[in-house]
Amino acid sequence: MIFQPVKQMKGEVTIPGDKSISHRAVMFGSLADGTTEVTNFLQGADCLSTIDAFRKMGIEIENTQEKILIHGRGLHGLKAPSSILDMGNSGTTTRLISGILAGQAFESTLTGDASIQKRPMRRIMEPLSMMGGSIISINGNDCAPLRITGAPLHGIHYHSRVASAQVKSAVLLAGLYADGETLVTEPSLSRNHTEIMLRCFGADLTVENKTAKVCPEPRLQGQKIVVPGDISSAAYFIAAGLLVPGAEILIKNVGINPTRDGILKVAREMGGNITLLNENYDGEPTADLLVKHSRLHGIVIEGDLIPTLIDELPVINVMAACAEGTTVIRNAAELKVKESNRIDVMVRYLSAMGCDITGTDDGMIIVGGRPLHGTEVDSHLDHRIAMSFAIASLIAKGETKIKGSDAVNISYPDFYKDLRRLSR
Ligand code: S3P
Repeated sequence: MIFQPVKQMKGEVTIPGDKSISHRAVMFGSLADGTTEVTNFLQGADCLSTIDAFRKMGIEIENTQEKILIHGRGLHGLKAPSSILDMGNSGTTTRLISGILAGQAFESTLTGDASIQKRPMRRIMEPLSMMGGSIISINGNDCAPLRITGAPLHGIHYHSRVASAQVKSAVLLAGLYADGETLVTEPSLSRNHTEIMLRCFGADLTVENKTAKVCPEPRLQGQKIVVPGDISSAAYFIAAGLLVPGAEILIKNVGINPTRDGILKVAREMGGNITLLNENYDGEPTADLLVKHSRLHGIVIEGDLIPTLIDELPVINVMAACAEGTTVIRNAAELKVKESNRIDVMVRYLSAMGCDITGTDDGMIIVGGRPLHGTEVDSHLDHRIAMSFAIASLIAKGETKIKGSDAVNISYPDFYKDLRRLSR
């Protein structure tokens, strides 16, 4: 797809539902008794992979576009899947479902696309094995395809080396089937949607500092869930609003959970003009974001902040490229094991656009302020890379061609439509 620079960005956008929360709603709804109703569910390819997997395990799920109805069969109601479970491109589905499958009374095999088959699974295989789970990498490379043979599990206290909500959630979900309490401590707090939503379904789950503890064999009860807009998708419009001269964008109904709102903190510290309107702190917090064009300056982004903006770092790179001065990103080695190696890919193509950017072992250093020019970019089939360069193209001189632009279907199928609607 070819992109041209814009003169202006104005208007309102309503961001589609949060990907992390949509996945969890389907999973927990499937394990609950009764029906779970989900509105504003993200109809992206990743979340559809989750629906597909639970349908294959006997769960009836009605998807009517305006709402999803999940007819849960209880904690022990899943059936052995009729065929291999295909996770598509979804790391969240693969890792979370592994925690659930470890405690079932059947064997299952999971696989996914070329990207999934390269992503590290040792991080979940290790704790699930410690719990008594039987989970093997069929090709012996610690990646999918995985074969999981359900087994009796016991509770553990797992100290995770990575701040990963996927690892934390896999262990907590396995903990629902264990013979005692299961605790997970992480080095920095990662997104806590599992903790919030499992409690809301009726699980006995408590959190103290960076440790979450779950008790086994809860009776989960179907819920009504309204999914807030995904701040990770809003991030592209936050960046567009800040970077395009004269821009003013109202981004409606965005989830602002403090374990996800690092982009807001960073954008403001860089000098970004963002006002929160209509804040609502009932359940998962939400707000409308009014974003206006701002002169940005470089900052240091590191430590506990990193997990709260991990998926937004590619577009934060674009913001840093346009900021005055140097931005240093540290402690973000996780970027290398996302849908693509996001350090390599961002460095390669932002450099090609004229940015002064250097990759490091755990992040990047960006000396901002050089004008960007259009070039040919390959998304590496990574949705966040495609969207980040679509934003860079708005302020680059000349034309930007993005190969693999369809990758946006993973998390934001209408992204280009919304972007075009706001562009002048
Ligand atoms: C997610 C957790 C994050 C994030 C991913 C979604 C989740 O991954 O990058 O897009 O829904 O739990 P990690 O937990 O591996 O950091």
